[in-house]
Amino acid sequence: MLIDTPIETDIVEAAIHGRSRALIESTRDLGSTNWASLARACCVPFIFDEMERVLASNEEPIAGISDIFDRLISFLKSAKVNGIDRLGVISRQWETRREDNHFTIENVTGKHYGRLFRDFSESAFWDEPVTLLRTRLERNAIDLSRLSEHDVLDAGCGGGRYTVAWRLLGAKRVDGIDISSIGIANARQRVDDAGLDGVGFRVGSVLDLPYSDNSFDLAFSNGVLHHTVDWEKGVAELVRVLKPGGMGWLYLIENPGGVFWSVIDVLRELMYGENREFARSSLRMLGIPDNRIFYMLDHVLVPINLRLTPAEIEKCLETVGASQWRRLTRGADYDRIERIYQKDPYAQVKYGVGENRYVFSKG
Ligand SMILES: C[S@@+](CC[C@H](N)C(=O)[O-])C[C@H]1O[C@@H](n2cnc3c(N)ncnc32)[C@H](O)[C@@H]1O
Repeated sequence: MLIDTPIETDIVEAAIHGRSRALIESTRDLGSTNWASLARACCVPFIFDEMERVLASNEEPIAGISDIFDRLISFLKSAKVNGIDRLGVISRQWETRREDNHFTIENVTGKHYGRLFRDFSESAFWDEPVTLLRTRLERNAIDLSRLSEHDVLDAGCGGGRYTVAWRLLGAKRVDGIDISSIGIANARQRVDDAGLDGVGFRVGSVLDLPYSDNSFDLAFSNGVLHHTVDWEKGVAELVRVLKPGGMGWLYLIENPGGVFWSVIDVLRELMYGENREFARSSLRMLGIPDNRIFYMLDHVLVPINLRLTPAEIEKCLETVGASQWRRLTRGADYDRIERIYQKDPYAQVKYGVGENRYVFSKG
């Protein structure tokens, strides 16, 4: 039986390795038709829903995850025996996908997120982020008594949900920037329709921010740099535009990441080469809400999905001139770091070290 102490991701991966190989082979065996792609896309919500059930229980999780994979393998094998590979038309696009240069990666990443965010419901856009952000700030005792005097940057703002959340929490002005023109157009539209002032959006890269040094009192980047070609450059840019004495906020994916991230890696391989639009439509067809589709397809279909250790991030922060960094140990209820803080059974087997959320200063 696994004990609940910090573990290396490798150990979790080794524990589910055999099953995940067999699962990936059985999805590949389905072939290249649109029916096969539909079956692969349906694996994503099946695995997510079942994984969440396993992670929410107090049982040791590896056996539960192995069982999910076994049930799926047996379903996929019967689909193959019953001729799914001879149904429909050829759809798989492995050979045509080329994501090997910076421009293409940024373009694909921007489109992927822009389309996911565009579908967000009004409450997922306006209400949920304010609650999440407020909870994360309060539980980590971050003092924002002077927020109304602060200019905030939301670096990699996507569809702008946290840009508006900062403004709704009382920031003087918030600027959102993202590589995704779809995301930015949608963010502008929502803010204009609502008549919210004090918020601005522009298209641009977080790896080359179009702002002078020392421009912002608060520089926020939530879940962005691990999807870029040079995350350390992104951290350096965030620090450069922060005013001395200001507050930086950085969220990056964790390593080790436990069962949760091992399963995401399996899904990434399982869905590799699939058409993203087709995958999104398949999940919508199943009646899955759009913010949940975002949650399921976010990391699974994005070209780059780096996972970093706290030591790597802290070394980078030091190198680029940040000061007084603090790794946040609390989160909103469903954040992995909060499940670890609350000492859920097997929390570290399930979630590794939990999200890398840092606040830091400069000077
Ligand atoms: C997981 S989303 C997070 C969006 C937003 N921070 C949020 O929490 O809702 C990642 C975002 O990073 C953006 N992104 C990726 N690479 C970028 C780059 N080089 N410059 C600016 N934005 C980038 C994507 O377009 C996407 O909107």
